[in-house]
Amino acid sequence: MRSLLALALAGLAVACSDDHTHDHTHAKRLPPSVPLTPPSRPLQWGSLNIIHTTDSHGWLLGHQHTSFPEPNYSGDFGDFASFVTHMKALALEKDVDLLLVDSGDLHDGTGLSDGYPPGGVDAHASNQFFKELPYDLLTIGNHELYIYNNTLDTLENVVSHFPGRYLSSNVNITINGTSAPVGDRFAKFKTRKGRSVTSLGVLYDFTGNDVGTTVQFVADMVKEEWFAEAIKEEPDLFLLAGHMPIAEDNWPAVYNAVRAVHPLTPIIILGGHSHVRNCLQYDGRSISLESGRYMETVGWMSADLPPPNSGDSKHNITFSRRYLDPNRVTYEYHTGQGNFSFDTPWGQSITKGLEQLAVNFDLSFEYGIAPHDFTLSRSPYPSNGSVLSLMVEAMPVALTINNTRASIPNIMITNSGELRFDIFSGTFTKNDQLTASPFMDSFLYIPNVTFSAASAVLPALNGEGADNRRRDPGVQAELWARGYVEARYHEWLGEMYQRDLQRRGGERRASAPENLTLGYVTTDTCPGVGDDTPHTPLPFFSSPDFIASALPNVADDAPIDLVFVDFIEDQLLEVLNSVQTVKNYTSADVASYTDVLSSEVLGVYAQEAWN
Ligand SMILES: *[C@@H]1O[C@H](CO)[C@@H](O)[C@H](O)[C@H]1NC(C)=O
Ligand SMILES: *[C@@H]1O[C@H](CO)[C@@H](O)[C@H](O)[C@H]1NC(C)=O
Ligand SMILES: *[C@@H]1O[C@H](CO)[C@@H](O)[C@H](O)[C@H]1NC(C)=O
Ligand SMILES: *[C@@H]1O[C@H](CO)[C@@H](O)[C@H](O)[C@H]1NC(C)=O
Ligand SMILES: *[C@@H]1O[C@H](CO)[C@@H](O)[C@H](O)[C@H]1NC(C)=O
Ligand SMILES: *[C@@H]1O[C@H](CO)[C@@H](O)[C@H](O)[C@H]1NC(C)=O
Ligand SMILES: *[C@@H]1O[C@H](CO)[C@@H](O)[C@H](O)[C@H]1NC(C)=O
Ligand SMILES: *[C@@H]1O[C@H](CO)[C@@H](O)[C@H](O)[C@H]1NC(C)=O
Ligand SMILES: *[C@@H]1O[C@H](CO)[C@@H](O)[C@H](O)[C@H]1NC(C)=O
Ligand SMILES: *[C@@H]1O[C@H](CO)[C@@H](O)[C@H](O)[C@H]1NC(C)=O
Ligand SMILES: *[C@@H]1O[C@H](CO)[C@@H](O)[C@H](O)[C@H]1NC(C)=O
Ligand SMILES: [Zn+2]
Ligand SMILES: [Zn+2]
Repeated sequence: MRSLLALALAGLAVACSDDHTHDHTHAKRLPPSVPLTPPSRPLQWGSLNIIHTTDSHGWLLGHQHTSFPEPNYSGDFGDFASFVTHMKALALEKDVDLLLVDSGDLHDGTGLSDGYPPGGVDAHASNQFFKELPYDLLTIGNHELYIYNNTLDTLENVVSHFPGRYLSSNVNITINGTSAPVGDRFAKFKTRKGRSVTSLGVLYDFTGNDVGTTVQFVADMVKEEWFAEAIKEEPDLFLLAGHMPIAEDNWPAVYNAVRAVHPLTPIIILGGHSHVRNCLQYDGRSISLESGRYMETVGWMSADLPPPNSGDSKHNITFSRRYLDPNRVTYEYHTGQGNFSFDTPWGQSITKGLEQLAVNFDLSFEYGIAPHDFTLSRSPYPSNGSVLSLMVEAMPVALTINNTRASIPNIMITNSGELRFDIFSGTFTKNDQLTASPFMDSFLYIPNVTFSAASAVLPALNGEGADNRRRDPGVQAELWARGYVEARYHEWLGEMYQRDLQRRGGERRASAPENLTLGYVTTDTCPGVGDDTPHTPLPFFSSPDFIASALPNVADDAPIDLVFVDFIEDQLLEVLNSVQTVKNYTSADVASYTDVLSSEVLGVYAQEAWN
């Protein structure tokens, strides 16, 4: 698979960028020396409640490393299944509604989804476990659409499993020349308590989809006849799922279209895609929730809806939302179960199945032992703790093995978007490699570039000094449309860190909650407590779009190899021709440097340096 970032950047002149086994497994996942702290308070239940997942991206075995805050997210999908079972029993006991909703992006992210053998289809195997959960409503994400076969597999294997409940209101697939929605466009159903619900499943205005799939813009979708027909009859609740951020995107278009017909009908929106925790209310009888990413968050929403057909339609509705850290301690706390009563046979079978899948995909194949944590944004770049610095150190090692050009001085450049997750102290496995650096891009080079020219390329690529077209709103919008979402997530992380720094600065260290653990600190505009377990934010440092290996110590006019990751070729040539005038470089000057792919660099390096 080509880099999703490459896809995002294509066409842009400028880039940015048995029981015993089970117990053993959990013993491995929970750090024995630091027991997990329980949530701060019980969940608030309403007459209708929702458990929400989004952007799970294959993280069905949870986060398995012991560096913090990973243990906070150590619950696997078997634990989640047991949680859902207990919560459903609680809902019955309380005689209230409880729905389970997912907002998409099941593909791309871990070995379980991406570590399949040649000839396989991404997430086909992991989705078999996702399908075991009793979802009431699901919607399609952009990551279901980068590769036609993934969409087709979603249709044939996921949609078919949730008849009438997998929605793709504005997304079609073309099969044998006929274009039709991947799932259903809308759903109308009744809850256990008899509430009538009308649902949609909306994808944001995504343009990076593969040939054979179509995404209709949200503004056009709400003008469709089927849409008007679907929302015409008044239900007790509009439950709108969508792979679309609840803020700074197109939910208002959908909300306004519904409100134009039904000024007071309760609306609950469950969004996704930007990987943040967020909640906002459009009015006193509606609410929208977004529940993070990578199974680092399970969202909770409750609403005190009037009894069905009671005629109440004026008062503000009492909503509550909570962002749960998915781990067994959280799950046990909220279900009132203990360590020995929590597991259900069903949950345990899901855990075992996922562990077997990891074995089948050889995901624990070990490249080496990482000496400490390397993170994307918790350590500055450059620094020992930066995964980008690690990449910069790894390239000259990994790319020159068995390479006849090894002795020629070089500068190696890649895009920081090649790195997608942190690397943690301890075993560095095939799974870790797939999560940290999943993109199978190759490396190219231009020989005989003078050092003075080659060394000017990186700063120019990063837009230092010169006009930085990456900050151009048009370029930003284009990147967003093509699925480049990391900028928004990083902005969120940066804001929580800055807010914390300011607070500490203002109130001095006395009031700093030094005993709080690291994690997300959500500030949204909904009433009540958001984060289920209070945390102190992770440090955040921004990083450049492009990174390069250390400069060789040679004369200005010395000829060197300028090595770079393939998908930046066009920009690199443009930049190289702008920093020197001796030669007009073209793609004819470019050749393949090595067979080692960008996804293999860290593994090859680990085998050399971490053994
Ligand atoms: C979260 O991780 C911290 C370490 O940062 C740990 O001390 C804490 O107990 C964890 N809390 C939960 C609820 O998992
Ligand atoms: C898509 O799947 C079909 C049938 O399984 C296979 O023949 C084809 O090679 C796949 N295409 C890609 C691009 O993986
Ligand atoms: C598409 O055409 C193929 C080959 O004719 C056939 O096997 C398949 O069932 C068709 N699919 C649909 C959805 O009609
Ligand atoms: C999506 O499918 C529907 C139903 O087949 C069709 O009417 C509509 O034109 C399709 N949309 C696109 C953009 O192809
Ligand atoms: C109802 O909610 C709206 C929006 O949150 C708020 O502006 C309004 O003051 C509330 N009304 C009452 C009576 O609480
Ligand atoms: C949880 O229960 C298992 C047996 O089911 C036991 O091995 C484990 O030590 C228990 N953990 C805690 C924290 O009590
Ligand atoms: C970074 O690593 C180098 C080499 O191992 C070491 O000398 C240096 O002290 C480290 N710096 C920090 C801040 O850990
Ligand atoms: C280098 O060559 C050796 C011997 O052919 C081979 O075993 C090894 O896998 C190669 N390493 C890489 C990174 O290609
Ligand atoms: C390298 O470039 C210099 C001029 O910059 C040129 O004189 C020389 O012939 C080139 N060498 C090769 C092998 O292309
Ligand atoms: C942190 O310290 C405060 C004040 O001492 C205490 O009330 C709170 O329970 C502690 N929280 C945790 C998670 O230990
Ligand atoms: C450089 O080469 C490219 C490709 O041949 C060509 O399009 C471009 O006009 C050339 N630029 C200059 C300044 O010669
Ligand atoms: Zn996502
Ligand atoms: Zn997405």
